[in-house]
Amino acid sequence: MVPRLEAPDLSYAQEPGHVRSVAETLGQRGILKVSLGFADPQSRYLERLLRSLHQHHGHQLPISHSATRGWFWDVVPSSTSFQTANCQARSETMEDFPWHTDCSYEDPPPRYFALQVLRPDRCGGGTLSVMNVERLSELLSPEARAALARPEFLVRTPPEFVKRPGQEDIVASILLADGEGRLTRMRFREDLLTPLSERAAAALGELRQALQQQGAEARGSHSMARLDLTPEVLPEGSIIMIDNRRWLHARNHVRDPKRHLRRVRWDAVPLTGLAIKE
Ligand SMILES: [Fe+2]
Repeated sequence: MVPRLEAPDLSYAQEPGHVRSVAETLGQRGILKVSLGFADPQSRYLERLLRSLHQHHGHQLPISHSATRGWFWDVVPSSTSFQTANCQARSETMEDFPWHTDCSYEDPPPRYFALQVLRPDRCGGGTLSVMNVERLSELLSPEARAALARPEFLVRTPPEFVKRPGQEDIVASILLADGEGRLTRMRFREDLLTPLSERAAAALGELRQALQQQGAEARGSHSMARLDLTPEVLPEGSIIMIDNRRWLHARNHVRDPKRHLRRVRWDAVPLTGLAIKE
């Protein structure tokens, strides 16, 4: 179940109790739904909330998604107008998008992202699913977990997001420990990854298998690690906030050309606590 808060009006974005609940729930569960009780096509709630989280709870302000769009990024299917000059980001297509974390190629990647639903997919597609990293890692062998926690993976930056020449890739681990040494955090987008050792390649294969298995099981029965955020769970006027390190996310094929989400990412803090020492 996804924890849920209500924001009956815009003032809640600056109401101390509400903001504290957002910060605490995100810290504890890494996922939260907020139901807005008012129309907010300009995302004023999210903008003010993020300033409140920054002022009172130590969250870093959002990073800019691109030089031209600032904090917010409109996720709409589009084949003609791209938000970064002449480059189509993958989120701008209607294709499905397999399991990943956002900005896996950035160091540090943003801790949180939020999606505000301006119009859900009314044609039965475009469903966002999330997968809990801690539960997923429990499905892996100890050898695979250890190999994924070693910095033996080359992570390529997609060309449309290269900000400075010469920063096309980083070397990093996929799985990371939290402050208590549990492997609960991940950076992952498979099409950008190259394993740099045999053990890294084998572990990546095992992770791929676990993800496929979770995908298949979720269709028929209860998945240990996965939640499907259908339009019933995330209707128009709702916002989902996700810890980008503790949950992977995926999207199936968008069917409604007018589907419209607005995304923001914030709190880029270093991934800490590498547990593996040679
Ligand atoms: Fe994403």
